[in-house]
Amino acid sequence: MSHPVRVAPSLLSADFAALADSIRRVEDAGCDVLHLDVMDGHFVPNLTFGPAVVKAVRRVARRPLDVHLMIETPERWLDEYVDAGADWLTFHVEACADPLTALERIRERGVRPGITLRPGTPFSDVEPFLDRIDLLLVMTVEPGFGGQSYMEDQEAKLRRARELRADRGLDFVIEVDGGIGRGTAARAVEAGAELLVAGSALFGDPDLPGFVRFLHGLNSAGA
Ligand code: DX5
Ligand code: ZN
Repeated sequence: MSHPVRVAPSLLSADFAALADSIRRVEDAGCDVLHLDVMDGHFVPNLTFGPAVVKAVRRVARRPLDVHLMIETPERWLDEYVDAGADWLTFHVEACADPLTALERIRERGVRPGITLRPGTPFSDVEPFLDRIDLLLVMTVEPGFGGQSYMEDQEAKLRRARELRADRGLDFVIEVDGGIGRGTAARAVEAGAELLVAGSALFGDPDLPGFVRFLHGLNSAGA
């Protein structure tokens, strides 16, 4: 079952000194979900923000929060991000010793569980969890920084996700994250992406509502 194309601005590219204004701007432009990149300086070589900022965003946001944890041992922190107001909570399969228990914990707290993987991680590492997730995030850059180039070779994972979802009669959302812009979004959608994270291209576009309309206009190949 496919889902309509939705747009998730990555707040990593927002103005951190005026976060509430940036959020209002992307919401007014028609974005569907807010993507929050949590980095711990260990799992990735960059450090962003933690639960306090997620909680502050929750206070001003009118859209669901899609929290992408790029942290070691995410299982220790899940409750903090749930309490902070995450609606979708995604962690890296590489960082977690027991993904199944972590996914169950997220769900029993009433939040939608997601799993993701680095570009170098084989798709087979997430396959055992596909029937336990609401969201599969396919990274099309090395996690850690905004503004990198889209990795076309990751599209095989998007295709495989769509294929397995259909074969197994599952309903998780397929999300793509990294290097999405006017030049790359169509091919990601064609490969199976439905929830499009965009950071630098979105915040850098002089016509934000036009950019969002463009992404919404892309049609999923379905399946
Ligand atoms: C990278 C993050 C992304 C990033 C996307 O680790 O997960 O969400 O901010 O930024 P762009 O769209 O600039 O690649
Ligand atoms: Zn992200």
